[in-house]
Amino acid sequence: MVAAASRPRSQAQAEATRRIRSILTGIGGYLPETVVTNDELAKTVDTSDAWIYERTGIRQRHIAGKHETCASMATAAARAALADADVAPGEVDAVILATATPDQAFPATALRVQAELGAKGFGFDLSAACSGFVYALSVADAMIRVGQARTALVIGSEVYSRILDWRDRGTCVLFGDGAGAVLLRAGEGDGSGGDRGILSTHLHAQGSLGDILYVDGAVGRPEKPGYLRMNGREVFRHAVTRLSEAVEEALAANGLGPADIDWLVPHQANLRIIDGIARKLGLGSKRIVLTVDRHANTSAASIPLALRAAYEDGRLRRGQLVLMEALGGGLTWGSALVRL
Ligand code: ACO
Repeated sequence: MVAAASRPRSQAQAEATRRIRSILTGIGGYLPETVVTNDELAKTVDTSDAWIYERTGIRQRHIAGKHETCASMATAAARAALADADVAPGEVDAVILATATPDQAFPATALRVQAELGAKGFGFDLSAACSGFVYALSVADAMIRVGQARTALVIGSEVYSRILDWRDRGTCVLFGDGAGAVLLRAGEGDGSGGDRGILSTHLHAQGSLGDILYVDGAVGRPEKPGYLRMNGREVFRHAVTRLSEAVEEALAANGLGPADIDWLVPHQANLRIIDGIARKLGLGSKRIVLTVDRHANTSAASIPLALRAAYEDGRLRRGQLVLMEALGGGLTWGSALVRL
C-alpha cells in the first residue's frame, strides 16, 4: 500500500478537491433607481402593457442612469454581498464578473470592482450572456475546490439598456439593468447529508446557434457599437427544451427528484419560458422564485437578483436546496445546484 505522504500528487489533489466545497455565504443586489413601466415605455415605443405582460410576464424594468455603469452597479452588489456575509473586502481573493456589457474592452470590469473594493488576488470578466452567472459560479467553484481561491465574489452586472435598439419593439421591451453578487468561501464537507455548498454545476453551449441571439457590433468598432438582435421564436423553442434537460441533468446527477428541490431560481427572461419548464417537470409554481415582472430580463444579473429578492423576503433559508438554470446568447445554458 502506498503511504499517504508518497501518494501521487493527482490522487492527493483529488481527495482535497472532494473535501473542499464552495459555501454561499453572502448575497447582494443593486437596481438602478429609475423604473420604467410598460405604460411609460408605450409612450415612446409602439407597444402596450397588455402585449408585453401577456407574452412575457414583464410589468416594469429598472434602467441605469448616466452615472451608473456595469462597474458601479457590480461594486454596489458586491458590497451588499460582503456586508451580508460580514466579510471584509481585503479577504476576497477572486472577483469573477459575468457581463455582456462591460465598461471597456479592457481592463476587465472585474478589476475596476476589485480596485473600488480594495480586494486582493485575481479577477476577470466572463462572457456567456444570460448564462453568465451560472458559468461564473461554475468557474469559481472549480477554482475554490482546487485551492486557487478561498473567498470569491461572483457577480452578474448588466446595462442592456445601452445595447438595445429602442426602435425595435420586439427586443427593447424585454430587458432591464442591474447587478447581483454572491460571496463563495471555501469550506469543508463531502456533500452528503446536510452539508452546505455548491453540489453540482453543468455547462453547455452550441456555437452554431450564435445567430439567433447576438449583438451586431463590438467595442472597438466605434462606427457600430452594436445592438442586440434576436429571433424570439427560435430562442423560445430552444430555451424550454434545453432548460428542461438542464434541470433533469442536475437532478439526476445528484440522485434527486423535483420534489427534493426547495426553490427553483431560473434565469428571469420570460414567464412563459419558466412556466413551460415547470409544466414539463411537474414543478409546482409555489417553489419558483419570480422577479421577471419587476426586473424584466437583466441577463447575467437576473439569477443573483432573484436570489437576493427571495433571501430578503425570508423565503430562502440556510439548509435549503436551490436549483438555478439559465440559457442565453451563444447559445449557452447550464445549471447550478446549491445547498444554502
Ligand atoms: N408590442 C406590440 N407588438 C409587438 C411587440 C411589442 N413589444 N413586439 C412584437 N410585436 C408584434 C410583431 O410585430 C408581430 O406583429 P405582426 O403579427 O403584425 O407581424 C406580432 O407582435 C408577433 O410577433 P412575434 O415576434 O412573432 O411575437 P411572439 O409571440 O413570438 O412573442 C417574444 C415575441 C415575446 C419575444 C417571444 O418570441 C419570446 O418570448 N421569445 C423568447 C425570447 C426571450 O425571452 N429572449 C430573452 C433573451 S434569451 C433568454 O434570456 C432566454
